[in-house]
Amino acid sequence: MDNHLSTNNLASDSRSSFSGRLGYVLAVAGSAVGLGNIWRFPYLAAKYGGGMFLLVYLILMVTFGYVLIVSETALGRMTRKSPAGAFCTFGTSLPFRFGGWINAVVPMLIVPYYCVIGGWVLKYLVEYTRGNALTLAADGYFTGFIASSVSVEFWFVVFSALVFFVILAGVKQGVERVSKIMMPILVLLAIGVTVYSVTRPGALEGVKYFLVPNFNDFSLMTVVAAMGQMFYSLSIAMGILYTYGSYIGRDVDIEKSTTQVEIFDTAIAILAGMMIIPAVFAFSGGDMETLQAGPSLAFITLPKIFASMGVATLIGITFFLMFLFAALTSAISLLETSVSTLEDELHLSRSKCCLIMCVVMALVGTASSLGYGAWDFVTIFGMAFLDFFDFLTNSVMMPLAALSTCFLIIRVVGFARIAQEVEYSSAFRRKKLYNFFLRYLAPVCIGIILLSSIANVLGIISL
Ligand code: PFF
Repeated sequence: MDNHLSTNNLASDSRSSFSGRLGYVLAVAGSAVGLGNIWRFPYLAAKYGGGMFLLVYLILMVTFGYVLIVSETALGRMTRKSPAGAFCTFGTSLPFRFGGWINAVVPMLIVPYYCVIGGWVLKYLVEYTRGNALTLAADGYFTGFIASSVSVEFWFVVFSALVFFVILAGVKQGVERVSKIMMPILVLLAIGVTVYSVTRPGALEGVKYFLVPNFNDFSLMTVVAAMGQMFYSLSIAMGILYTYGSYIGRDVDIEKSTTQVEIFDTAIAILAGMMIIPAVFAFSGGDMETLQAGPSLAFITLPKIFASMGVATLIGITFFLMFLFAALTSAISLLETSVSTLEDELHLSRSKCCLIMCVVMALVGTASSLGYGAWDFVTIFGMAFLDFFDFLTNSVMMPLAALSTCFLIIRVVGFARIAQEVEYSSAFRRKKLYNFFLRYLAPVCIGIILLSSIANVLGIISL
């Protein structure tokens, strides 16, 4: 994918440069659409206020999300480096090193637990293939599965092995190509399941809960969760956009591609929400406990919808195959980013860097996969390992990474140089908005959210 991007963009004839823009948008969208959209977004929306969550998410996305994507991409293209190197282009003192590394370390901590969830998806796919659709839909199946440590660890290892195989064999291009076919099928399938889901008796209440904001559902936690999700889903504040930005040429319209990626990513997340939340209402009457189910929501609700459709095996296999693909392509780009940062910064061979990531994955991934079973007596600030790593990366490290980017631009690079970088390819249409958010709103809001989520976990405040 990376080579594909650079060759296309270095080419000078207009046809190649068009395919360069398209290649860039597809590459970023491919990395953006993953478990975050299908698994994480619906459960957070269900838990943190439905329509209110959606509204806050959309506002954050067109303001902060937009500002951060443009910033990271422009800095990547300007410096032609991935995050650690990009920050060090402007200075080598501690704050620069910290800013670069915090952006670079996030994917290294996400990829292990991402692969644990990838393992859950794989397990479901295999069970559907074996004709166990009704078993998967039974009450308590999922909870029993994640508590069965050996099985969860097994599927985590199989999924991770697939990811490593692709990275080592270098068949990325093939995966990218296949995912371009799989993604549209996933969308069509999701539309089909959504139509079925929202037409179940009682589902309309769920549609209302998900789409209509109710101000009673608002809490600071809605904003904290929505911001974490926005970072996660759009692959912001984890180095990836610096890296992708460094591969593109000056002909790529940064603003336009940002908008396209945001629309695509959000459309898929909303579709997943429409598939899952109304179904929760249809099957459990909008029971609060089910809505609060958290990470397990998609794995409990989807099999029930499929079972009630009468063609559970076929739909289950097709859907989880697509789900697996979305997870696999994202996991590959997370691991690829981690490995290439280690290569660049530690000057070690690719295989040594893969080995380092293997160790990180074995430690963090195993802790995450056993956290709901054999190791459920260990909690960190009251959270199981997987939830803890998700919280640490999304609510603490990503806001810090985003703050570092804001400060780098405000204090060192200067707004004018970013504007100049964007204007190489097109007029900077939302220049004023960008300037306003970056200078006045982003640092203050990110800072407040960071502090409040830490205070919440330490029990100082209750959100
Ligand atoms: N944005 C992806 C998702 O929503 O699942 C997660 C992700 C994948 C982040 C790849 C970063 C990345 F490089």
